[in-house]
Amino acid sequence: MKDFQALLADYVSWFNTRLENLFPLPSGAEKRVAEAMYYSVSNGGKRLRPFLVAETAALFGISRETSFITAAALECLHSYSLIHDDLPAMDNDDLRRGKPTCHKKFDEATAILAGDGLLTYAFELLSSPRATASPEIRCELISLLASAAGAFNGMVAGQMLDLCSEKHAAGTGSEETIKHIEEMKTGRLLRFACEAGAILGKASPEERRALVTYSRKIGIAFQIADDILDVEGNPLLVGKTLNKDAAQGKLTFVGLYGLEKSKQMAFELIHDAKEALASFGLKAQTLQTLADFIISRSS
Ligand code: IPE
Ligand code: IPE
Ligand code: MG
Ligand code: MG
Ligand code: MG
Repeated sequence: MKDFQALLADYVSWFNTRLENLFPLPSGAEKRVAEAMYYSVSNGGKRLRPFLVAETAALFGISRETSFITAAALECLHSYSLIHDDLPAMDNDDLRRGKPTCHKKFDEATAILAGDGLLTYAFELLSSPRATASPEIRCELISLLASAAGAFNGMVAGQMLDLCSEKHAAGTGSEETIKHIEEMKTGRLLRFACEAGAILGKASPEERRALVTYSRKIGIAFQIADDILDVEGNPLLVGKTLNKDAAQGKLTFVGLYGLEKSKQMAFELIHDAKEALASFGLKAQTLQTLADFIISRSS
């Protein structure tokens, strides 16, 4: 795990430096929205989605340089989802990544626009030849990211379900409903990360299927871990206000089954995720450890 953390830290510092170059500041008054976009995207995230793009692409001999624009586009889209998730009309959070949320640092209207700007910028990046020279591959990536992020079984659908399911008493909701919400709101972007690596690497259908299985398992485990951190995380490390899920009556496995059973479920999902990588052998060592990291992380 130490080696993995060093690898991740190395990628994060490389990624952050490269990301900065994608955010030039306009000179006019509109620079406020660009500042808010960069504030949110540069704000100390774990960069697990970009790292997943890089590591799945690396299985097929693709360098992190070559997968960078795809990884950055996904991180822009993820950061937009967090800005909007934190808005008063949604989860109403003051703290993100240990700093004031975008609407607290700037204002609500600027935060909405910064989210819009990052969502749009993700597709500008992905459609540029800098993402990859092949127009067919670019088109496939754009189409997949749009559906992963969207309202028809994508992240937006998951966020709608999450909001509709608020004000539930602990212990209510069905396992099926919660799994569905988690697969949509969190799982789809993590799945895109892994499929993007497969697409960039021209993976065979079987290789891609294996990565999709891996991503679906880690997707649900990732959200279970997030929900566990909301209850028993260290606030200084998590960087978000804790105990919000129960206060808002969110439907989560932790609410339904309690901490112990949720931990067991997450552990089993991670076991299955790692099994799905068997055919890649030692090449997938980092992805194997990344799966463990998803449920052992402290932020
Ligand atoms: C938080 O995602 C939102 C969820 C989908 C649970 P991360 O935990 O990946 O957030 P950052 O990017 O590292 O801040
Ligand atoms: C958010 O889930 C998922 C997305 C932003 C799509 P949460 O609402 O649990 O995420 P946090 O806990 O605020 O990061
Ligand atoms: Mg939310
Ligand atoms: Mg939230
Ligand atoms: Mg949460």
